[in-house]
Amino acid sequence: MKRFLILGAHGQLGHELQAAFFGAGEIIAHNRAACDLSDPPSVRTAIRAAQPDVILNAAAYTAVDRAESEPELAMRINGETPGVIAEEAKKIGALLVHYSTDYVFDGSKNKPWTEDDPVNPLNVYGETKLAGERSIQQVGGPFLIFRTSWVFAPHGQNFLRTMLRLGQEREELKIVNDQRGAPTSASALSVGTRSVLMAGRSLDEVTGIYHMTCAGETTWAGFAQSIFAKAHTDKPWASVSGIPASQYPTPARRPANSVLSNAKLKAAFGVALPSWETALGEALQTLETQQARTLSS
Ligand SMILES: NC(=O)c1ccc[n+]([C@@H]2O[C@H](COP(=O)([O-])OP(=O)(O)OC[C@H]3O[C@@H](n4cnc5c(N)ncnc54)[C@H](OP(=O)(O)O)[C@@H]3O)[C@@H](O)[C@H]2O)c1
Repeated sequence: MKRFLILGAHGQLGHELQAAFFGAGEIIAHNRAACDLSDPPSVRTAIRAAQPDVILNAAAYTAVDRAESEPELAMRINGETPGVIAEEAKKIGALLVHYSTDYVFDGSKNKPWTEDDPVNPLNVYGETKLAGERSIQQVGGPFLIFRTSWVFAPHGQNFLRTMLRLGQEREELKIVNDQRGAPTSASALSVGTRSVLMAGRSLDEVTGIYHMTCAGETTWAGFAQSIFAKAHTDKPWASVSGIPASQYPTPARRPANSVLSNAKLKAAFGVALPSWETALGEALQTLETQQARTLSS
């Protein structure tokens, strides 16, 4: 039976990975208290104790704006410790599955970004995630790095949950409409990861970086409009007005186009995630089921 070690177990992705890998083997899931990526020795100890066949690293410093004022901590967690995880994985012959971001690109291309396109992060978070990719590659063990984008889930901190709250509190929301990307559910990403690992490809052939996002693309304003169109409520939702990013200044700059091409993933493993609208509908369904259970209990 295979043993899977999931790091970042309480995050959006870590939570969904535990569900997606249920039944695939033995699962050991560590949160920050059990394995702190800002403390590399604790990471080595946790991996040596677990002796996994596969490490799924869903832990990361994900506060994109805060990273601008905490670059050293973000670099340790996102840039350096992934290399430590890769070293430990290599020593025990484990596969490292790691996640990276669309923010390694500068957004200047008009088409979806491929894995061969030049990287040029616009913000500290993107720089640290790129450093993480490189530190894993330098170790030279087997790895899969999945770059993804605009992650959402029925739980955790994300745009979906923020919109569901603000859309009821306010009458009008001004949302950026000149940044394009692919909202991707943590659930679809987790199921996609399991499908890749079950595809039966030899690791020597497939080790590398792949883009893995839900299909389609939209803007933040378009994402908000879809949320309000699909989510059921008694009270009317806020109206959405599109604004340029220049009218919504944030500490971190973000790319104008961060849509990723998933063609390499499809060609290598035959895996493609559903459209972001389908994934959004599923997340909303999960939320509504949870709410109905809470009301009836
Ligand atoms: N969210 C996005 O929009 C997005 C977009 C592109 C790529 N990604 C990538 O996708 C992956 C999963 O992200 P996510 O959306 O699931 O993020 P998330 O919900 O913010 O979860 C990140 C997890 O990492 C944990 N963590 C933070 N610092 C840690 C540390 N020092 N040691 C151990 N754990 C630590 C957090 O722990 P606590 O629960 O204790 O805070 C949290 O559980 C990450 O690699 C991220 O960079 C995310």
